[in-house]
Amino acid sequence: MKVIILVGGEGTRLRPLTYSIVKSMVPVINRPFIEHVILKLAAHGINDIVLAMGYKPDSIFSYFKDGAGAGIKLTYSLEEKPLGTAGAVKHAAQHVDDTFFVLNGDTFSDIDYTEMLQLHRRNKAMATIALTRVEDPTLFGVVETGPEGRVTAFIEKPARDQVTSHWINAGVYILEPAVLDYIPDNEFYMFEKGVFPALLAKGAPVYSYASQAYWIDVGRPSQYHRLNCDMLEGKCSSPLYKAESVIIEAGCAIHPSAQITGPARISAGCYVGEEVHIQGPAVIGCGCRIEKGSLVENSILWDNVIIGAGASVIDSIIASGVKIIENARLEGQTINQDAAADHATK
Ligand code: GDD
Ligand code: MG
Repeated sequence: MKVIILVGGEGTRLRPLTYSIVKSMVPVINRPFIEHVILKLAAHGINDIVLAMGYKPDSIFSYFKDGAGAGIKLTYSLEEKPLGTAGAVKHAAQHVDDTFFVLNGDTFSDIDYTEMLQLHRRNKAMATIALTRVEDPTLFGVVETGPEGRVTAFIEKPARDQVTSHWINAGVYILEPAVLDYIPDNEFYMFEKGVFPALLAKGAPVYSYASQAYWIDVGRPSQYHRLNCDMLEGKCSSPLYKAESVIIEAGCAIHPSAQITGPARISAGCYVGEEVHIQGPAVIGCGCRIEKGSLVENSILWDNVIIGAGASVIDSIIASGVKIIENARLEGQTINQDAAADHATK
């Protein structure tokens, strides 16, 4: 079955963590975010994958080439101008003639796509929208439903006094090809404000699939941090990661006096010095040096990070190549590559 993943346009960076890596390629426990998403889809037999994007996908293309694993077909749909969520799907789905999935490319979930598809078919729906429950619906699209989960209203980014439900659009849709008739060609058009309200106005069968499964939108660094930690702790699943207490990859030198408390992943070629304390959840990327007496707690380090002796890094994310100076204290910080110089000289 086909899925169109809305990877986004040129501006889709996980700011301020990175200005150079597109959001979908940020490492989640050392593998690109989108790779986790793709392999989860493939595990449900959704293995004809189209990445819809508004920029030249150099980093994505050089990583995946034209495959993402055995039995997975991967194609790219490039937009020359911003088309919005629905416009991008129309552009990518010119020749779709069967039921297909659409995914917002910045969400990660354990939603049961197989069960969702069964429900879609049972309801003979034209569109099925997965719903998830959140505390603050104002950042999302609220979906109101009636009997049998039929969608009755769609309120994108409601003001606080407009919030009628905590169930929101999880950014996972199953659509019949007929939905494409509601999207103009080569024009900016959104599902959230255009297609779904139009389908409702026509009385088309639009249903919801309410899921209690793990769900997160990783659009902010704090959420990205949480996804890494949740995956380490086994709160969500990925075919690319099996939650274990402490994983130490090949080529690491770990001093016997270092104390590592899981869940933690120490990637290939790391050096962990004398009396270092790593307190999970923690991801240490490839080739990092954690110098004598330092502490890394509840933090995500990308590749080739150096933590100077006696430094402590708590609840933080450190981008590749950053050097944290000796005895520095970092708590709740997001350090990007451009900040490297500051932290090296402070
Ligand atoms: N290819 C492509 N082209 N992708 C796009 C475009 C476009 O023109 N515009 C947006 N996208 C992608 C984004 O990169 C993202 O992966 C996805 O579409 C959703 O866009 P966001 O900008 O992240 O929207 P949002 O998070 O504010 O709201 C959406 O997602 C929520 C769930 O996370 C809406 O769909 C809400 O209704 C929903 O609740
Ligand atoms: Mg989003």
